Amino acid sequence: MRFSKFGNKLGGQAGITQLMDDLGTAMSVNREMLMLGGGNPGQIPAVQSLFRQRMQAILDDGDSFERMVGNYGPPQGAPEFTRALAALLQREFGWPVEAENIALTNGSQSASFMLFNLFAGDGEDGEPSNVLLPLAPEYIGYSDQGLTHGFFSAARPTIDHLEEHVFKYRVDFDALHVGNHTGAICVSRPTNPTGNVLTDEEVTRLMALAERHQVPLIIDNAYGTPFPNIIFSQATPFFNDNVIVCMSLSKLGLPGVRTGIVIAKAEVIKAVSGINAVLNLTTGGFGPMLALDLIESGEIIKVSREIIRPFYRHKAEQAVALLKQELGDYPFHLHKPEGAIFLWLWFEGLPITSQELYQRLKQRGVLVIPGHHFFPGLNEDWRHSHECIRVTYSQDQAMVEAGLKIIADEVKKAYDNA
Ligand SMILES: Cc1ncc(COP(=O)(O)O)c(C=O)c1O
Repeated sequence: MRFSKFGNKLGGQAGITQLMDDLGTAMSVNREMLMLGGGNPGQIPAVQSLFRQRMQAILDDGDSFERMVGNYGPPQGAPEFTRALAALLQREFGWPVEAENIALTNGSQSASFMLFNLFAGDGEDGEPSNVLLPLAPEYIGYSDQGLTHGFFSAARPTIDHLEEHVFKYRVDFDALHVGNHTGAICVSRPTNPTGNVLTDEEVTRLMALAERHQVPLIIDNAYGTPFPNIIFSQATPFFNDNVIVCMSLSKLGLPGVRTGIVIAKAEVIKAVSGINAVLNLTTGGFGPMLALDLIESGEIIKVSREIIRPFYRHKAEQAVALLKQELGDYPFHLHKPEGAIFLWLWFEGLPITSQELYQRLKQRGVLVIPGHHFFPGLNEDWRHSHECIRVTYSQDQAMVEAGLKIIADEVKKAYDNA
């Protein structure tokens, strides 16, 4: 069989395919694996029980269940949900958004695919353009989403050492090249994989840069505010006519319902709905129905602030304390955990690559993600990218602790045997 370029690129060994295979195997076939690799949200009983109750209420409410599973909705997504979310964003942030500014997609993963290829790739004039990721490392899930060659460009960040063992990446504005070849600029904030939260000043400068070049700034807010609000530092939520905000229900604890959200000016929402109609006919209605009440009442904000954020903050603090205790005497650094559900570890001068470390850890039953996968668009070999790994601290505490101890042990061995 001969696959097309598209087939080979997306249907072949994309980085994300290998990753999902590993994660899937660890979660199902090989259940004793210590899973510090994936992006699965944690199990939070109070939140799980909330959604269970909501499901029960749907089942008990006349023909609600039959309507939920028995009807196609419009390609823009369930209108009750987009109206309720627009009202919430107006109330909470004063954003000038109506239902016409919101589209729902089957996960925000598919939203970024649609948006990237809407703004970048081969133009009508035959000129190619790309998506600029101003701060690498960036989300691995973007890597294979471009339909054309050279779809991403990225820049190295500067590294700010904040305190012993703790650093923060910052956008190096001098290294950004924006021009006719730029179709859009995109950042995840909070950032997967690093837990970085771009400062208000950085976002404001990126907004100005995007506006000057008449390209949109896409802010991937999958972990951000107002929900799931996994942000531990101060961060203003930004939106204007030239900003596109992507959100998701996944990190609330609902990755299985596949609900992504795009907030943008009406012209962009129309285009996204059009693409969604071609690819999916419409968006699944299950997630919007499960979350509707919480959005209408605003309870989702309280749940995020009072249950979800403290849950992850506590887990982050425990993980950091353990790593500092285990690796305090070694040249290890971690990115300041400001949000999301990951720790980004940098083993400076590590005698083996993070790919080799990943293999050794897998042998010992611990799954992490080696750092070099997280640099889409950075077309230079940067040793730093082979000295980092991403670990997830969202899972069961005993599993996380056991996994971190094995990581520390392998890292020490690698340094000591050099
Ligand atoms: C930064 C970021 N964006 C988008 C996604 C995709 O989320 P989903 O498609 O589940 O909404 C993820 C998932 O891990 C993510 O980390």
